[in-house]
Amino acid sequence: DDHEHHDGNTDHELRVSKIRDGTVIDHVRGGQALNVLAILGIDGSKGEEVSVGMNVPSDRFARKDIVKVEGRELSQDEVDVLTLIAPDATINIVRDYEVVEKHRVERPDVVVGVLSCPNDGCITTGNEPVTSRFDVLEGAVRCSYCETIVREEIAALIDTA
Ligand code: CTP
Ligand code: ZN
Repeated sequence: DDHEHHDGNTDHELRVSKIRDGTVIDHVRGGQALNVLAILGIDGSKGEEVSVGMNVPSDRFARKDIVKVEGRELSQDEVDVLTLIAPDATINIVRDYEVVEKHRVERPDVVVGVLSCPNDGCITTGNEPVTSRFDVLEGAVRCSYCETIVREEIAALIDTA
């Protein structure tokens, strides 16, 4: 299709420009882009060059978000954690303007140090330096220490500190 490109761009408008070297996180669920950035620890304070498209038209979903990070290739570990909030994401590694690798995210069995437990009585939320650890279930996460299960509001647990 020459006229409709997959970013929701048409020949008349360019919504998010192409990057030279870095990572494009595509097919993120509409509205989750900022959570993707939080998971990756990107807040712009270190001068990262980042483009975000939110709720752009997509042919696979009605709407999608897209995140482009210049100058950084995400590791598989970083990518795996994204499944928690963006299970359908496609990760594109770009070098010299070309997509040289494309992979789908794979759900990890555990995530360590990414989410904080919502249970105030949990050993991971006290003063002791115990790193959080969650088992990843179908559509939910469970604290490995206190077994609190979170289903809907996983993005709210993302440790942005
Ligand atoms: N992209 C980019 N900068 C580049 C190359 C690609 O921002 N230098 C973006 C494209 O705009 C697209 C994504 O990376 O959003 C994937 O690129 P590509 O594989 O060329 O597009 P599609 O074939 O549409 O991808 P898919 O089949 O995964 O939807
Ligand atoms: Zn806990």
